[in-house]
Amino acid sequence: MPELRVKIEETDKSYPVYIDCSEISGLREKLEPYISGRKVFVVISEKVNKLYGKILDIPAVDKFILKDGEKEKNFKNYKKITDRMLKSRLSRKDVLLAIGGGVVGDLAGFAASTYMRGIDFIQIPTTLLACVDSSVGGKTGIDTDYGKNLVGAFFQPKAVFININFLKTLDEKQFKTGLGEVVKYSFIEKSCKPQTEVDLFNFLSENFEKINNKDVRTLEKLVQYCVSLKIAVVEQDEKEGGLRKILNFGHTYGHAVEKITNYKKYTHGEAVVEGMRFAFKLAVEKGLIEKNYKFLADDVINKFRFTPVKKFNMNKITEIMKTDKKASNGKITFVLPTEYQEVKSFDFDEDFFLNYTY
Ligand code: GLY
Repeated sequence: MPELRVKIEETDKSYPVYIDCSEISGLREKLEPYISGRKVFVVISEKVNKLYGKILDIPAVDKFILKDGEKEKNFKNYKKITDRMLKSRLSRKDVLLAIGGGVVGDLAGFAASTYMRGIDFIQIPTTLLACVDSSVGGKTGIDTDYGKNLVGAFFQPKAVFININFLKTLDEKQFKTGLGEVVKYSFIEKSCKPQTEVDLFNFLSENFEKINNKDVRTLEKLVQYCVSLKIAVVEQDEKEGGLRKILNFGHTYGHAVEKITNYKKYTHGEAVVEGMRFAFKLAVEKGLIEKNYKFLADDVINKFRFTPVKKFNMNKITEIMKTDKKASNGKITFVLPTEYQEVKSFDFDEDFFLNYTY
């Protein structure tokens, strides 16, 4: 099975990311080296369990089935999971498997990071968003009354198993939200890795039809490529002291859109796409990029037919952006395009956006 590897400086934290499109039933055998002789605790999404629970046939001491939806990433479920792990008498030598999308991975990862001060965990992402983003890089956490992901830990998995076949049963909405993050990588590609093997921007332009039709081989290549970009960033900056911030391209405005609509009207990917459009407009006005690059970017984005996002009152948006994790010292941090496939982080005074017309 082809393997990418995340090399974190402290070597015991390095781990493989396996990406393939073989039969899902073969996963159990591939997991064997990680689970044999240990108790296995599974956290799995309800939908994935219904569709694949039997085929996966994981020998678990207990299986926690998590309902689908972001609102499940909460303290209550964290307590339920850790209680059940205690009840199953898992020791620090045992292992937790997270099988599902980003909510399952983040919540189960956080439970793993704190259970007995840390127990091994394996990520098996089943959505495009989780494959290209949340399953790799060790961000785990839960949502709070004050905002999303505000309680959590950097805790790297022991391995990530990506099987493209899971993506076949994704509904259009879930698939599109992952595509939002995929498109993001095409605009930050050179900042992730100066020497790239593929031009993702061209890859997306040339293969958008196959991608929209979920052609498995094309998706495998696409996921491999996005994951290699994510790995390059995480290896340079595991704990988001600097470079990792570029992964937030489109997220400052995007998060505000999600929050202002109570996380209901738009998916994360749609909001991020709108955030990227906002960032491109701002970058042109600041003279960072030529208008032509913005047109090219619009063209790639439009190929994936994301739901258009309406415009909001900038006072309200600014209020939310001020409270974002990325805001500090009265400044709002924005990642903006500066060159073809390159971005940089900029700090803006809060007042700037109050008078801004979008
Ligand atoms: N999702 C952004 C990151 O992993 O840093």
